[in-house]
Amino acid sequence: MRTCPKTARLIHGIYEEKKTMTSIKERLLETVVEPVKVGRNKITVVGVGQVGMACAFSILTNNVSSDVALIDVMADKLKGEMMDLQHGSSFLRNARITASTNYEATADSTICIVTAGARQREGETRLDLVQRNTDIFKGIIPNLVKYSPNTTLLIVSNPVDILTYVAWKLSGLPKNRVIGSGTNLDSARFRFLMSQRLNIAPTSCHGWVIGEHGDTSVTTTSRLVPVWSGVNIAGVRLRDLCEEVGTDHDPENWGEIHKQVVDSAYEVIKLKGYTSWAIGLSISNLAQSILRNSSSVHAISTLVKGMHGITEDVFLSLPCVLGENGVTRVVQQQLTEEERSLLQKSAETMHKVQLSLKF
Ligand SMILES: NC(=O)c1ccc[n+]([C@@H]2O[C@H](COP(=O)([O-])OP(=O)(O)OC[C@H]3O[C@@H](n4cnc5c(N)ncnc54)[C@H](O)[C@@H]3O)[C@@H](O)[C@H]2O)c1
Repeated sequence: MRTCPKTARLIHGIYEEKKTMTSIKERLLETVVEPVKVGRNKITVVGVGQVGMACAFSILTNNVSSDVALIDVMADKLKGEMMDLQHGSSFLRNARITASTNYEATADSTICIVTAGARQREGETRLDLVQRNTDIFKGIIPNLVKYSPNTTLLIVSNPVDILTYVAWKLSGLPKNRVIGSGTNLDSARFRFLMSQRLNIAPTSCHGWVIGEHGDTSVTTTSRLVPVWSGVNIAGVRLRDLCEEVGTDHDPENWGEIHKQVVDSAYEVIKLKGYTSWAIGLSISNLAQSILRNSSSVHAISTLVKGMHGITEDVFLSLPCVLGENGVTRVVQQQLTEEERSLLQKSAETMHKVQLSLKF
């Protein structure tokens, strides 16, 4: 059927009118329903310093989440970091990267990672630093929970075990949903060093470092506990091959690996000024276990009261089963008396520090 010239002019007129009144977007897209603004896997990262950005980068490049919100108090740096990441969007899988100094931007986050924190000033005691970071957390944690009441908090700022306790107190969240990155990184460092000695992939080297995270422990001596009794390759325990492994009488001095783990952060910081990539990768690995509800086991900081003879409300790292609702189970390792005693001493020291904190 042919359209008469008059009707054709009319249709053309309507089309022209519509073209001038509507945007290209409206002419291109017919709306069926408004899209959902927030995905189910949104992750907020608070603090866009070296560690926060390494976490965000690792989460995005490993496709752990496609929705990342960044928060910091330094507006310019925040915007710069957001733009820089956004410009890489074409190489990511439909990532949505936002940033704001306003916590509204964090709404409905499944995970909130906190890397914000002050660095130790010259002459400042670690205890003073803990109080300063507690004060910073007072402005962060309640805001995160306000906009994401069902979130899981993943604390990275140091001293991580005490600040995880602080976050738990300030948030009012159940203990399973407040997690510290703990000795996940220390265990990874241990497995890497083990792999160097044996020339076997780190993923096939099994060893757990538990207790208090080493980087900025508030105690003077390290309370990182390498569980030598469980160190194995394919189920073959090194302790069955040499009873003294890891002890002072060890002819091959495997204990050196533990010392290196303790010194790792200090050495990297001395050389490049901060640590970032390994902690970023370790955090993205934890976030993945939560978002995929994988029930993987990680050495992370959890409330350990009632475990291994610990009587105080403190957070220390033990092997934890991690899934959608945070820590669901803690693996009960068979520890030696010495290992248990180290954990208990850590707990006592941290508890004393916690008692002196002003909330
Ligand atoms: N748990 C671990 O295994 C581990 C490993 C490495 C570093 N860390 C810790 O991570 C933390 C961050 O380290 P970094 O090297 O990224 O430090 P950084 O100084 O580079 O970054 C800290 C960021 O926090 C921001 N910030 C400060 N106060 C804030 C507030 N109130 N709200 C929002 N943002 C705020 C700062 O503006 C800055 O961008 C430190 O406490 C460090 O010790 C932990």
